[in-house]
Amino acid sequence: MKYALLTGATGGLGQAIAGALSGTGRWTVFAAGTNTEALAALEKLPRVIPVPMDVTSPDSVEAARQTVTQAVTGLDAVVNFAGLTAFSSLVEGDCVEILRKVLEVNVTGMARVNRAFFDLVRAGGGRIINCSSESGWMTPQPFSGIYAASKYATEAYNDSLRRELMYLDIPVIKIQPGAYKTRLTQRIRDEFDRTAASTRYYGKLLRNMKPLMDHELARGENPAGLVRAVLKAMESRRPRIRYRAGTGKLLFTLELMPAKCVDLIYGIFYKRK
Ligand SMILES: NC(=O)c1ccc[n+]([C@@H]2O[C@H](COP(=O)([O-])OP(=O)(O)OC[C@H]3O[C@@H](n4cnc5c(N)ncnc54)[C@H](OP(=O)(O)O)[C@@H]3O)[C@@H](O)[C@H]2O)c1
Repeated sequence: MKYALLTGATGGLGQAIAGALSGTGRWTVFAAGTNTEALAALEKLPRVIPVPMDVTSPDSVEAARQTVTQAVTGLDAVVNFAGLTAFSSLVEGDCVEILRKVLEVNVTGMARVNRAFFDLVRAGGGRIINCSSESGWMTPQPFSGIYAASKYATEAYNDSLRRELMYLDIPVIKIQPGAYKTRLTQRIRDEFDRTAASTRYYGKLLRNMKPLMDHELARGENPAGLVRAVLKAMESRRPRIRYRAGTGKLLFTLELMPAKCVDLIYGIFYKRK
């Protein structure tokens, strides 16, 4: 039997990963999150042990570490999927506070979990898997800067950690999902509406952006490909540095163009309507 700690297990993607790991019969999962109802639902899955953990709270992470330490002497994987998103101007509203909150979960929280569970990973000959996003490597679009900043930071954190831990023979792998319909993508829609209702400068721009945003957020119905990628990252004897799944074709095409050219396209496309 292998043992994993999975953060974000109460979320859309985390639940799918926890279910798949449970279904293999090869993994016992310590499934972490803060939502008590979702944690209780996870408990019904075979070999899934819910662990309350708020990644922004040192005390909560330490309590979770103690719970896991009482059950096992080592971990085969720590899989970080806890995450927050944002849709916000970078010059209006409470954008700085939103940035702080998102970084606190997506970057500091991830680092806190990996620090706390590192000795268990080392003892178990395990590996660390960090969830980034296509927003962690694509050029950010307007209003996605806060989330993108957190995921670019995740990438930098992950890559440095990989090159540090390779000296200890501990693989560090990043996952770069495209868009999948979860609470996270619903939150983008809600924050879009909030931003559109409160903006002083961007009403027309946001109205013109909406069709593209709807198109992009409607992409991922089924996270099966992503779940397969995570399982490969967890089980492969020679895991890759990164796994991508569900990358958006339109956004990927824009990435192939020079940035100035993309700026021009955004300018023309959003202003013309
Ligand atoms: N869905 C997508 O399109 C997409 C695309 C690219 C990358 N991702 C990444 O995939 C990961 C999972 O996203 P998702 O789509 O599954 O989102 P989701 O359904 O909103 O789930 C988010 C998860 O993060 C957890 N979380 C948030 N704040 C937390 C905190 N302070 N402490 C502990 N856990 C916390 C939530 O737990 P509680 O609710 O229990 O607090 C929940 O389990 C995120 O890192 C996200 O950035 C998602």
